[in-house]
Amino acid sequence: MVTKILKIDGIDLGAKLIKQGEVVAFPTETVYGLGGDAFNENAISKIYKAKGRPSDNPLIVHISKIEDVEKLASNIPAEFFALAKRFMPGPLTVVLPKKKCVPDLVTGGLNTVAVRMPMHIIARQLIEKSQTLIAAPSANTSTHISPTTAQHVFDDLNGKIPLIIDGGECEVGIESTVLSLTDDVPTILRPGIITADMLLEVLSAVKIFKGEVKSAESPGMKYMHYAPKCDTIIASTSDKALEIYNKKTLDNKKACILCVNENVEKYKDCKYINLGKDAHSIAKNIYGALRQAESEADFIIVDKLNGGGVYDSVMNRLIKATAGKEA
Ligand code: TXA
Ligand code: MG
Repeated sequence: MVTKILKIDGIDLGAKLIKQGEVVAFPTETVYGLGGDAFNENAISKIYKAKGRPSDNPLIVHISKIEDVEKLASNIPAEFFALAKRFMPGPLTVVLPKKKCVPDLVTGGLNTVAVRMPMHIIARQLIEKSQTLIAAPSANTSTHISPTTAQHVFDDLNGKIPLIIDGGECEVGIESTVLSLTDDVPTILRPGIITADMLLEVLSAVKIFKGEVKSAESPGMKYMHYAPKCDTIIASTSDKALEIYNKKTLDNKKACILCVNENVEKYKDCKYINLGKDAHSIAKNIYGALRQAESEADFIIVDKLNGGGVYDSVMNRLIKATAGKEA
């Protein structure tokens, strides 16, 4: 299959393909998604196939207006609408009790459905013009690093999907916060740039899910995620990072340090990529930097991020990328 890349003018073709039961990669403000008609099982199975994703890992359904939630969920709690007023459109996904009409293949057999209204104009126009709702995971090969540019999608899925709509680089850079409203207390299943503190502006309590996933809490969490193609480790301090870097260099390995701005001076004699000055820049740059590093080096060292909030959300991805390896 030939994979076309079009800019915003590709929305009409994208919508046509979605209506025909095809899959299309499109930009959102967080990462690129690989979308298909949420009510067409055949389209959904093409998403799992293109990504090589296990089908018990459920997909997020993307809507273009708040009322669309009624097509997916039942017994919607008042908290949803309060959250929607404050954070939608935006990088927040809410898990709700699902309606029967949502195929089991979308929800991995769960009786809940994850709903998100993206901010990106291309994403919302694509949904509207498709005249359906769009189920979409991140548009990477399963377990690889999520894509934040059209080129990243192309690198993973060339030949496997008919169209990538190129909307430039994603603004947020890490996936949406996933919040479940199906427990007694709203629970963050995946942290993102909408943090617990921000959710507490609207909700009276928020729990952060930390447990090991044995069953179906958020099935995506049990799989390895976001992993570069070469060994990657978190360095607890800049001295540790330098020590590992020097050892790898002596072993004739090409190492690369992904660093926070304040450490640039210390790493001036090393190969490094500066992730940025603050948590939001680091979130925006992290996946692109991991992809660049895996293509240019054979060992990646990442500075540990301290500071809470969005730093923790990026650390959540790094812990998965390194399978928790820290020195
Ligand atoms: O920012 C994002 O959320 C991006 C863009 C494309 O919207 N999408 C994304 O999708 O990251 P994906 O499939 O890579 O991650 C979806 C996450 C997984 O961890 C999955 O387990 C969880 O959401 N999820 C989906 N449906 C769920 C449900 N019914 N209950 C619990 N967790 C769910
Ligand atoms: Mg993903």
